[in-house]
Amino acid sequence: MSIHILDHALAKHHITTLRDKKTEADQFRRLLRRLTTLLVAEATKNLASDSYEVETPLALFQGKQISHSIGLVPILRAGLSMVDTALDLLPFAEVWHLGMYRDEATAHPVEYYSKIPKTDPIDVAIILDPMLATGGSASAVIDKLNAWGVQHLYLLSIIASQPGVDALCKNYPDVHYFICDVDSSLNDKKFIVPGLGDAGDRAFQT
Ligand code: PRP
Repeated sequence: MSIHILDHALAKHHITTLRDKKTEADQFRRLLRRLTTLLVAEATKNLASDSYEVETPLALFQGKQISHSIGLVPILRAGLSMVDTALDLLPFAEVWHLGMYRDEATAHPVEYYSKIPKTDPIDVAIILDPMLATGGSASAVIDKLNAWGVQHLYLLSIIASQPGVDALCKNYPDVHYFICDVDSSLNDKKFIVPGLGDAGDRAFQT
């Protein structure tokens, strides 16, 4: 099992402002991008690389290039706010969108859009969703990516609940989880408490 909670002063600083209900949408989106930078940098630091030779203006240099095929899997809507930042750091990545919302009455995920194909899986999938509450949406995505045949799965979330993390780690111990902060509980509507509200609604002003 591999769960990494970002132990970084910048992450603690920015997520505190993100949680603040006075933080408006423009600043909220900017903070999501900053936190995504920290998450992607941490999650990708041990990705497999091959030797790669380049010629500098002065001499040959034996360098490295990432060897795996990588796909970003943003869970719509909120995951969209993490894509551009992740693509800046991983410009060679594919993007496979997946639309999912949580039914308000049952809190179960409902899929409404999927670009995930059935053949030719990528080597590494990096799932992007700012929030992991019950873990139901993430579980549905992981099931889909496993069915596609992806070998290495990463899940990047800005905020999670302890019950959601526990459920995912129990059911999917091979996934690599990278999270900025984990809160202790969910309320009776399955919202993370204290949390930050609904990331999609706050980012897109709905
Ligand atoms: C939120 C969030 C996750 C999901 C987390 O999305 O972005 O996708 O809920 O909850 P879970 O862990 O209990 O499944 P939401 O359904 O609000 O859709 P949105 O991204 O369109 O706002």
